[in-house]
This record gives sequence, structure tokens and C-alpha cells, in this order.
Amino acid sequence: MKYHEPVLLNEVLENLKLDKTKTIVDCTLGDGGHTIEILKTGACVIGIDYNDDSISRTFSRVQNENLDNNFNLIKGNFKDIDQLIPNKVDGFLLDLGYSSFHLEGYQKGLSFQKDEELDMRVDTSLGVKAKDLLKVLNRTQLEQLFKIYGEEKYSKKIAEEIVKKREVKEIHSTGDLVEIINSVVPSQQVFRINPATRVFQALRIVVNQELENLKTALPMAENLTLPGGRILVITFHSLEEKIVRSFSRDFQPSIYLVGESSISPSNLEISRNPRSRSAKLYVFEKRKK
Ligand SMILES: C[S@@+](CC[C@H](N)C(=O)[O-])C[C@H]1O[C@@H](n2cnc3c(N)ncnc32)[C@H](O)[C@@H]1O
Repeated sequence: MKYHEPVLLNEVLENLKLDKTKTIVDCTLGDGGHTIEILKTGACVIGIDYNDDSISRTFSRVQNENLDNNFNLIKGNFKDIDQLIPNKVDGFLLDLGYSSFHLEGYQKGLSFQKDEELDMRVDTSLGVKAKDLLKVLNRTQLEQLFKIYGEEKYSKKIAEEIVKKREVKEIHSTGDLVEIINSVVPSQQVFRINPATRVFQALRIVVNQELENLKTALPMAENLTLPGGRILVITFHSLEEKIVRSFSRDFQPSIYLVGESSISPSNLEISRNPRSRSAKLYVFEKRKK
């Protein structure tokens, strides 16, 4: 089986200050790339994920590696960690990207590179699919969604075209949406980042309530971290960074940012794993009183 390549792995392991006495909560288990390496140090891991496939993939992976003794698996949303975690722990990890599996093999329309139903729910307990948003939101709401969550320059034009096209035929698939975006974004833009990138980002964020989850979870993680323990967050875009920076401001002096700023992947890592290029690792430590 091909697994997700964990981002900033060495930097995560170094900054969790691991040893056999530590318990770490991996809030975004995914394929278990970080978790497996943490378990190999002898530390205990509580792994959380809200996606059934991630849970079953990692469960068998950890078992195959004979690492299940110190491993607890919880299906749930990290916004509920105050109910999911019984005691204070030594560290939290939140790796906020998408797993390669969700982008390539999950078949729910998370990537514009595959023609699939525009669902986008990674948390399948949620009721609203991306295609439902494209059906029910009015032009102004769609424009705001693409502007706020995708920082998309052509939000207005894209929203207008969606409203026009959906009168003729439902926008059902990623292919339908990509066609609309390509028809309104000026052609010279097409050679920069893919013009669908920002719109897809916006829809994924809203469908899975990503920013609300993060805003809710960070203060809970702060409360559940033992003095001297650490909270590590890997962000992938500026909206996540904004939430992490405001957490950093609001919870001082109880926590502080370790190092001058965030940690970026090395050029070597980016060349080996281009998906890591926008990753930033923020390391917070809880002060000892
Ligand atoms: C980038 S992947 C993690 C990859 C993992 N670190 C690895 O190396 O294999 C993010 C994972 O977090 C999960 N996830 C995202 N938001 C979540 C939330 N609010 N609660 C629980 N799981 C979440 C996704 O289902 C996905 O499996």
C-alpha cells in the first residue's frame, strides 16, 4: 500500500522531546506517518481522526509494525479533545494538510485533478457536500466564500458563472466546476498556479468546517498540556496561520512560541515531496509555573 509521506517528520520528532515516559496526542492521524515514528521511540500515542478510512488504514499499519502496545485509537473530531482525552498529556500534534490518500484515492472530489462527484466531506458525518453549496448559495454568498476562504481574485466572475450555469444543469462534478473556472479566469493566469486551486481550497475548508475546528481545538490543547509539554501545529495556508498566530498571542504567558518563528521544510524535503512546500511548523511550549 502507498502511504502519505509525513511532512517535516524529523522536525516534529525533535520538537516533541520524546522518550518512553511521554504521551502524545496525534490529532490528525491520517496514514500514521508521524505516529509510527513517535511510537518507535517508545512514547505512547493517542491517535485521533474523523475519517473512517484513515482509522482503518492506520490501525492495520500500526499492527503490522507491532507497535500497537502503546497506541490508542479514537475516531472523532479534534474539536472535541476536551471530551476525548481523559488526562493531561505531554504533547499534541495537528498536521492540518490533506493526506495523499484523500487527494488521490478517496474519490470524493477533494482534488481538481480527478473528475469525481463534488462531495469533499472528509468528515462523512457532516450533511452538506460541496455541490450542495454550489446549488443553494446565492451569487453574493458564493463570491464571499471564494474571497474569504480561497483569497480568490476572480471570486465575483466565478460566482456569476456558477449561477448562470446551474440554471441549465446541476454542477455535480469536479470536472463541471473546473470547466466553469477555466472559462472565466483570464488565460495568462492559467500558467501560474492552477486557477481551480483557490476555489477548491475554499470549498474544502467550508464543507469540513476546518477553521472552526482549529479555533476550538487549540485552547483545549493548551488546557490539556502538562507544564513543559508541547503543541505542534503544521499549517498549509495563511488562514490557518492566522488562527495559530492569534492563539499564540491570546495564550501568552501560559504558552510561548519556541524559536523565532515557524519552521519550513528544507529544499531537499520540498524536492522529494513537493506537497510539503507550503508547510509551516509552529512549536509551542507550555510554561512551567
Ligand atoms: C495531513 S493528514 C495527516 C497525515 C499524517 N500526519 C501522516 O503523516 O500520515 C490529516 C488527517 O487529519 C484528519 N483530520 C482533519 N481534520 C480533522 C479533525 N477536525 N478531527 C479529526 N481528524 C481530522 C484527516 O481526516 C486526515 O486523515
